[in-house]
Amino acid sequence: MVAVLHHSLAETQAACRKFAQQGLSIGFVPTMGALHAGHGSLISRAARENDVVVVSDFVNPLQFGDLGDLDAYPRDLDGDVALARSAGATVVCAPQVHELYPTWPEAPATMVSVGPLAEIFEGAARPGHFNGVATIVTKLHNAVRPTRAYYGEKDFQQLAVIRQITSDLSPDVEIIGCTTKREADGLAMSSRNVRLSAEARVAARGLSRALHVAGQAFRANPQVSAETLNELMATSVLAGGDLVTLDYAVVVDASTFARATGPVDPTATRCLITAIVGGVRLLDNAGLTFTLADEMSTSP
Ligand code: PAF
Repeated sequence: MVAVLHHSLAETQAACRKFAQQGLSIGFVPTMGALHAGHGSLISRAARENDVVVVSDFVNPLQFGDLGDLDAYPRDLDGDVALARSAGATVVCAPQVHELYPTWPEAPATMVSVGPLAEIFEGAARPGHFNGVATIVTKLHNAVRPTRAYYGEKDFQQLAVIRQITSDLSPDVEIIGCTTKREADGLAMSSRNVRLSAEARVAARGLSRALHVAGQAFRANPQVSAETLNELMATSVLAGGDLVTLDYAVVVDASTFARATGPVDPTATRCLITAIVGGVRLLDNAGLTFTLADEMSTSP
């Protein structure tokens, strides 16, 4: 299938109205571009489950507190269109900032405010971040009116925020959370990985290994406490050396994000890790059944 490239959201909105009039189901994959195989898997899944697939490619300035981080965010529209096309996209929408935010660099007067879930973990480290995500996701969902929208579990708190705002504001959109795709050594795929130096790339393996270690510890002793798991994860991440600054490595309730204490319930908990590795903020997470494939956990 030939994917059409739109440079405006209004054009995509008009196309989506036509798809809906024809009774076609619309799968939507919102992205900030710099697409990798993880995005490719979301697009392929959307293509399997829907009649048409819309991919948005928009680096949303509202979710960056640090404008240096916004400038450094990788961009490759030609590569994105090629990847989206080969994964089965029907439309790639790459709108301009001023169409979505006419007052930019002034933030829009109306923003979506997420509440307490936006204040903890990633929200505490990046004030305003989730309100920026919630605002763009709401605008995109309003324009595309997808049947289903696909988001990666790698950004687990973001996925929870999106589930919350969708259930509050546009409950007819079905949100599909998709399993994290990993590199051969276990590192979670992320557009930010291209900014890692060779040394930092090695140190970054500590995040997925820490999740593996937590899973192993739980399997060895199902009564293990959340506090012990937090310590084990922190030690594994910090084994990456001086290039690594740990922000948090915690076991939380997978729905409320409250910190777990004492023995953990594997069906209701999630291990969350964020570390800055060689200046790049990296996130990973998993449940306690997580295990890296042998070749991932032992690669040098
Ligand atoms: O996960 C991302 O790429 C972004 O946060 C999203 C959901 C596309 C909103 O800009």
